[in-house]
Amino acid sequence: MMMRKKVVMSSSQHKRRRQWSSCSCLVGWFGIMLQLMLLTECAVITTNQNITKKGNNDQESYPPVRLHRLRNRVVMENGLVSITLSVPAGEVIGIQYNGIQNLLEANKLDNRGYWDIVWQHPESRENIIDKMEGTNCRVIMEDESQVEISFTRTFDDSADKRHVPLNIDKRFILLRGSCGFYSYGIFERLEGWPDVDLIQGRIVFKLDEKLFTYMAISDERQRIMPTPEDREKGQPLAYPEAVLLTDPSNSFLRGEVDDKYQYSCDNNKCWVHGWICPNPATGFWMITPNIEFKTAGPVKQDLTSHVGPTVLSMFFSTHYAGESLEISFRNGEPWKKVFGPVMIYLNSVSQDDDPLKLWADAKGQMLLEGESWPYDFVLSEDYPFAHQRGRVGGRLLVQDSYISESLITGNSAYVGLAAPGEAGSWQTENKGYQFWTQADEEGYFVIKNIRPGNYSLYAWVPGFLGDYKYENYIIITPGSRIVVGNLVYQPPRYGPTLWEIGIPERTALEFFIPDPNPKLLNQLYSVDQAQKYRQYGLWDRYTELYPTQDLVFTVGVDNYQTDWFFAHVTRLSGNHYVPTTWTIVFDLQLTDASAIYMLQLALASACEAELQVRINNPDPGALYFTTNLIGKDNSIARHGIHGLYWLYYIQVPGTLLTNGTNSIFLTQTRGGLPWRGVMYDYIRLEGPPPNS
Ligand SMILES: *[C@@H]1O[C@H](CO)[C@@H](O)[C@H](O)[C@H]1NC(C)=O
Ligand SMILES: *[C@@H]1O[C@H](CO)[C@@H](O)[C@H](O)[C@H]1NC(C)=O
Repeated sequence: MMMRKKVVMSSSQHKRRRQWSSCSCLVGWFGIMLQLMLLTECAVITTNQNITKKGNNDQESYPPVRLHRLRNRVVMENGLVSITLSVPAGEVIGIQYNGIQNLLEANKLDNRGYWDIVWQHPESRENIIDKMEGTNCRVIMEDESQVEISFTRTFDDSADKRHVPLNIDKRFILLRGSCGFYSYGIFERLEGWPDVDLIQGRIVFKLDEKLFTYMAISDERQRIMPTPEDREKGQPLAYPEAVLLTDPSNSFLRGEVDDKYQYSCDNNKCWVHGWICPNPATGFWMITPNIEFKTAGPVKQDLTSHVGPTVLSMFFSTHYAGESLEISFRNGEPWKKVFGPVMIYLNSVSQDDDPLKLWADAKGQMLLEGESWPYDFVLSEDYPFAHQRGRVGGRLLVQDSYISESLITGNSAYVGLAAPGEAGSWQTENKGYQFWTQADEEGYFVIKNIRPGNYSLYAWVPGFLGDYKYENYIIITPGSRIVVGNLVYQPPRYGPTLWEIGIPERTALEFFIPDPNPKLLNQLYSVDQAQKYRQYGLWDRYTELYPTQDLVFTVGVDNYQTDWFFAHVTRLSGNHYVPTTWTIVFDLQLTDASAIYMLQLALASACEAELQVRINNPDPGALYFTTNLIGKDNSIARHGIHGLYWLYYIQVPGTLLTNGTNSIFLTQTRGGLPWRGVMYDYIRLEGPPPNS
């Protein structure tokens, strides 16, 4: 079914030689020259900037970078790759490489390689798609080692109401000796500009579907893909993005489900993805060298590559989060942010070589790009170089006397800087930059390359509930080296653990994930069982497993890995999806009815859900606690194993408990759709503190 994987890393010297011999191509070179001879004039204005650049030592061995100005386009080429951009719109309309005239689909010019944004006027709430066509083109730099071009559009309140009220600057960079190019965007609004909600922003590439047939997201997630026509001929499932392939051109894909959300990825696991063309063996890769410009922190999920063949870099979106991640501006709030650069990397191997080496090589390039961050060649003054940034180091420790008398090291803690706010606010923070790292086993961390600014320091520790926030603001200035010393996180804790369900790590991954309906498979996740949760339609397995009686979990008897369904969803009853009530049964030695107990309830996701808690009495009138209507992260439908994190501390008076067998009833009250519900992260019942 899938192409066999073989990872072969070539030595860097070998790689360079291979790049050189495979990247340059006489046919391609000829094509460029021909194009140049046919077209002449150019409407591009060059700004006179005197920039000296440190070249790579080996740059000289490559042909110089050239910029060719044509009537309504510019061509940047370096002997390895040639990129054609429309002028002044700034769309990527051609990428010539490895003897292929254009890696992009011969779509309309504005539908090949482009930036776009989805936005709303707050009054109308209608989604408007703006492809952000530039109106002005400037050459920022042009010499033998580098070309950087800028396409801008200035907001004009009297102009098109379909234009997002932002100043846009889209940049493209080609370096000497580089098999690929960079793009970044600077979005700006000035004080007093109209209210706006930004829903999503991204850069998109649509590749030639006759060439690119094999997609790779990670070592485990790669496969031969269906075509857009296969999807059109297929049968749409519960929502249009999911299609059952009934008559695909490649017969071994028949009977599979395709859904672009099956290829989503957490920000901190999405450094490189893309496509392989088997003949001539060519790779097209989106490399994200750093996630400082992505919104909502390291575990925000988003789309990657999918049928098209489409390659995305999602800079911000509401995916797996909902409205709380719309970037809203009111009362004339000003803003400016640099998204990117990301690198579009191209590679090739000779025809008798294994095309999967392209994936291994792309991963190698991804590491090189990450090590080169912040880039020293990006010329916007809004992009600080390394010496203009700062760093913070320290150690995170955890204090939970019910687990250990002494401090516990913050093993693998996520530690990050984001805009000042409450603990945990980073997960919906989407206007600024965020800088994250993971601490080592001993809890030591260093966050490097932080842009100047005023931040809060946040953390969370896998294995512990809740969110940490350092009490002081962190002020970064160029060259700052801040040492915060030992930080001690006291996670929520009231008394001793009586019982717990799951692991507090903000996903539902540890719970029971059913096998998919065999008629609705994505073969990829049948092979890779660890990602079974990405299969389509798992929500409906609940009704099959619990056709009449809802889930009952008996503490001390049942095991959360096999007996706790990964999502608290609705049940199909007749034609209706109805609310469900799960029951936790447990024994308690109640010694003092006047004592207070604590139910710690952490959710990994919520979608149009209301979770109600009742203690020892399932009657509607015995409602003890409700989350009220929460969440729109859609992570159940989108096969995410988590969305946003929710944490509730629910005090339970001993008077509601009995000495002996007790039941806690968890009711998700909102029916009507299969994907309404919650995913639990972790539940813990704590007894009264010994001295209370
Ligand atoms: C940092 O931000 C906080 C919260 O907005 C503010 O109270 C504080 O004064 C700021 N510090 C500096 C030095 O700007
Ligand atoms: C609770 O039940 C246990 C036996 O299960 C009994 O030994 C104990 O005395 C009871 N405690 C109270 C306060 O009734």
